[in-house]
Amino acid sequence: MVKIIQLPKIIDRRGNLSFFESANQIPFEIKRTYWIYDVPGGETRGGHAYKSLQEIVIALSGSFDVHVEGRTGSEIFSLNRSYNALYLPAGTWRSLQNFSTNAVCLVSASEVYDESDYIRDYDQFKSFIAHG
Ligand code: TYD
Repeated sequence: MVKIIQLPKIIDRRGNLSFFESANQIPFEIKRTYWIYDVPGGETRGGHAYKSLQEIVIALSGSFDVHVEGRTGSEIFSLNRSYNALYLPAGTWRSLQNFSTNAVCLVSASEVYDESDYIRDYDQFKSFIAHG
């Protein structure tokens, strides 16, 4: 189920610190981490689903909205805290929009990059969640 995982936050007057570990905060083993940055105003990233990949999405800096749709419906998450990780299970259509200036989106995923795991066609996605 799509959910916000609140990560540990070590508050310190020298600056705060948060972290995640595969075996603890994250419900899958991380095989890959990538990040999206320098997004021009008004651009959209994502706009696809994965057949088997799970991932967490964090607004490390700045803010953006994650539009998600899965078997149980659709929702919009506004991410703007670096200690909140949005968990997206397999079979979730997601698109990232409304990036603030200097936003950095960190994604940790359960699989290495594999184009054949993508569902990039929305109608195909609807049929995947209906029958898959
Ligand atoms: P894509 O996942 O389509 O970006 P978005 O999240 O906006 O939908 O990836 C864009 C391009 O980057 C695509 O040609 C594949 C490449 N790519 C990699 O090579 N490795 C990766 O880990 C990722 C996420 C993308």
